[in-house]
Amino acid sequence: MNRRPSKPNLRLTGRQAGGWLIVLACLALLVGCATETKQKWLTIFFDGVPKPGAATNAPLQTVEGQPASTNAVAQPVAPPQPQLIIHPPYGKRECTACHESQYSQKMKGKPGEVCFTCHQETQKSFAAAKVKHQPMENGECVSCHSPHNSANKKLLIAKGEKLCFECHEDVQQQLVKARVKHQPVENGECSSCHSPHQSDFKKLLIKPAGKLCFECHEDLQQQMDKAAFKHDPAGNGDCASCHNPHQSAEPALLIKDRRQVCFECHEEKDMAEVKDHADALQESCANCHDPHFGKDKYLLKGAAAKAEGKGAPSPK
Ligand code: HEC
Ligand code: HEC
Ligand code: HEC
Ligand code: HEC
Ligand code: HEC
Ligand code: HEC
Ligand code: HEC
Ligand code: HEC
Ligand code: HEC
Repeated sequence: MNRRPSKPNLRLTGRQAGGWLIVLACLALLVGCATETKQKWLTIFFDGVPKPGAATNAPLQTVEGQPASTNAVAQPVAPPQPQLIIHPPYGKRECTACHESQYSQKMKGKPGEVCFTCHQETQKSFAAAKVKHQPMENGECVSCHSPHNSANKKLLIAKGEKLCFECHEDVQQQLVKARVKHQPVENGECSSCHSPHQSDFKKLLIKPAGKLCFECHEDLQQQMDKAAFKHDPAGNGDCASCHNPHQSAEPALLIKDRRQVCFECHEEKDMAEVKDHADALQESCANCHDPHFGKDKYLLKGAAAKAEGKGAPSPK
């Protein structure tokens, strides 16, 4: 973390005090200026100059882990550098935990094996899993992790989706081109659906297909649980029979357009034989039917349900 200290550091060393004298001289030159001009000038020299109207005097800023600048005028405080996270064995200079010797870059064992000498839990979960990510299987830990240190948490070589796009360029390209994007995918939250190492579910998903979507679409699950009739594939959690998980050319991430998607399973000629379908089949089916659930067995939406009630009296 790269937090600036929140408490002012008001004690000045002799050299800092000297620096401040020079600063004060500069300030004197600014006395006649308008507040905004002063603000502009001061920000050239210092970080953390209070915004015009702010109540307090800004303290000398320090970058965590570095001493406060001793001469504020000549050495403006450097912009904060990303803080490195050090891998403990590297920090403790246990080079030979991984390398053949202190002076050799050669590894002690095969890629990955060296890591598993300490990361036995990681190895155990990996060995037990049904679906394994290929780079992990090949022991290419360093294609995702820096062995020594990194600015990213978990020693990752890149953050979030950037890490995945290092190898899955195709996924990125499809996403860029697509008209309709699934929000978590667009936001780069790959890990909200996929595990990076291994999983018990296909495509490294964190949950089985029937549960994954409800992780976030809880409302749909609740409505469906209450509904009298469920459309078979939706009730079975087979969302992928109609929706793409990442992106689509169609609204609502449909795999085909709103009408064609129904003919994936219902034969067009059978549909034409349904009484109430006369003249209706050029429309989108979802104008009259809810694709997920409904109050009656035909999953009819409000208006269509009323029309149906007036037309053919239900035997029940
Ligand atoms: C946790 C295991 C591990 C430890 C501990 C470790 N290294 Fe490495 N080191 C590696 C791996 C893995 C690579 C290969 C990186 C790659 O292929 O990109 C590497 C690469 C290097 C390289 C090649 C240049 C580079 O940075 O890629 C040098 C030099 C090096 N290590 C020196 C050291 C020294 C010196 C220490 C002790 C202070 C040390 N290493 C501790 C795993 C380790
Ligand atoms: C000598 C023992 C040792 C070896 C070998 C080793 N590690 Fe570690 N590693 C540690 C310790 C200790 C930690 C800190 C405690 C923890 O998170 O398990 C750690 C933490 C990590 C973390 C998590 C950092 C975090 O922020 O939670 C990653 C990722 C990691 N190591 C990857 C590797 C990889 C990749 C290799 C092989 C190149 C490797 N380690 C080899 C001891 C080791
Ligand atoms: C495809 C990229 C990728 C590869 C390859 C990979 N990791 Fe990771 N690893 C990750 C990500 C992403 C996380 C962070 C997961 C999180 O934040 O929950 C992680 C987390 C970890 C952690 C922290 C503990 C944990 O499970 O969250 C350790 C230790 C670790 N990896 C070790 C390894 C070792 C050892 C290898 C090689 C055998 C390896 N990783 C290969 C992406 C990778
Ligand atoms: C070092 C390269 C590399 C990185 C980085 C990487 N992958 Fe992969 N991934 C592969 C390879 C190789 C395969 C297997 C071939 C394929 O399906 O493209 C694969 C396969 C997959 C699969 C399909 C698995 C299956 O069982 O069919 C998923 C899902 C996946 N990766 C997700 C991710 C995610 C999420 C990330 C980021 C955390 C990521 N990958 C990062 C190389 C990588
Ligand atoms: C909302 C959940 C979700 C998110 C977020 C998500 N994915 Fe997926 N991804 C899936 C599902 C579900 C599949 C399996 C599709 C299938 O069965 O063909 C998949 C498949 C994949 C595959 C395998 C592709 C193939 O055709 O076999 C890769 C690679 C992949 N995802 C990478 C990513 C990357 C990279 C990200 C982040 C940018 C990401 N995913 C975000 C749900 C998601
Ligand atoms: C990590 C959370 C998350 C997961 C998991 C998830 N979604 Fe979503 N999904 C969202 C968010 C956020 C939106 C946008 C807001 C909304 O419409 O609720 C969205 C929107 C949608 C939409 C409407 C898209 C549009 O453009 O109209 C569909 C369809 C959808 N998700 C299907 C799925 C399916 C199918 C799955 C399982 C593969 C799934 N979602 C898993 C978060 C998620
Ligand atoms: C039989 C095809 C089909 C199945 C199966 C299906 N959907 Fe849909 N879904 C649709 C259609 C069609 C729409 C668009 C509705 C519209 O345009 O009126 C839609 C819309 C959505 C939306 C957008 C908001 C809304 O309700 O209009 C979400 C979210 C969604 N589906 C999630 C899911 C989830 C999660 C599953 C799995 C439990 C699932 N769907 C299964 C066809 C299906
Ligand atoms: C993945 C296959 C699949 C897709 C795609 C699909 N359905 Fe279905 N549908 C079924 C199954 C299975 C049933 C229950 C068995 C039956 O009655 O045929 C069913 C039943 C229905 C019923 C109730 C029939 C009855 O007699 O109770 C309606 C209405 C319906 N579907 C409309 C749609 C609409 C509208 C779409 C497009 C949004 C669609 N279906 C897409 C598989 C599918
Ligand atoms: C104008 C409204 C409307 C449209 C558009 C429509 N339907 Fe229907 N559909 C109905 C009504 C009303 C019924 C009930 C028929 C009955 O009472 O026998 C029905 C019945 C059904 C049934 C059950 C048939 C049976 O006999 O079990 C299915 C399946 C179905 N529709 C699918 C579709 C598909 C697929 C489409 C798109 C190609 C579609 N519907 C378009 C109104 C519509």
